[in-house]
Amino acid sequence: MSGIVVLISGRGSNLAALCNNLDLVKHIKGVICNNVDAPGLSIAKKFGIPSHIIQHKQYLTREEFDKHMAQIIDGYNPRYVILAGFMRILSPWFVNRYHMRLVNIHPSLLPSFIGINAIDQAFAAKVKVSGLTIHFVTDKLDHGPIIAQGVVSNKSSTLEELADKIHTLEHVAYPFIVSKLLSNKVNILDDETIVVEKDKDDIQLLGKFYNSLFY
Ligand code: GRF
Repeated sequence: MSGIVVLISGRGSNLAALCNNLDLVKHIKGVICNNVDAPGLSIAKKFGIPSHIIQHKQYLTREEFDKHMAQIIDGYNPRYVILAGFMRILSPWFVNRYHMRLVNIHPSLLPSFIGINAIDQAFAAKVKVSGLTIHFVTDKLDHGPIIAQGVVSNKSSTLEELADKIHTLEHVAYPFIVSKLLSNKVNILDDETIVVEKDKDDIQLLGKFYNSLFY
């Protein structure tokens, strides 16, 4: 097993961030998308990464769709399956198949604001800080062992500014953590406790975001 397969549904800005990382892009074996109109598909094309469109509407059950996806994923024999804005709930069958190999990024500080529109939810709640969570996926929606969290201030922000801040941090944090995963720096102590090893060049890699990412 080596490398990653990335699952997307839409814009693909996190996929772009992974692709723009010179050390990571060579590890992206394939992209799977469930939306034929997803702008993110053009990113895979631009970087010469094979992409597959699997439209969930063509399957009778969630599991049938997931099984077809797994067939494609397994053809690449990836070490990790990376969800980057994949807007589809995955079946327990799928989640169990990739136990501790399935990673998601969610735009809030979990367990607050699960589900869709997490940024809108946080903004409406008038929280002082929000952020992002990178976690292993379990069959409970937007739960699962936390690998890293990034924090942004929501003080005197508009909704758009808050969204911008979170997305900017996502685009630094996700490649950073995926690199840690691929270089064996993410240790699973038990099904709930994840410890990420620090390196001296982390400060340089994260730049001004170093103090915003907790891992
Ligand atoms: C991101 O905010 C991510 O946290 C969430 O979905 C969004 C995907 O955005 N899971 P993009 O498609 O990567 O631009």
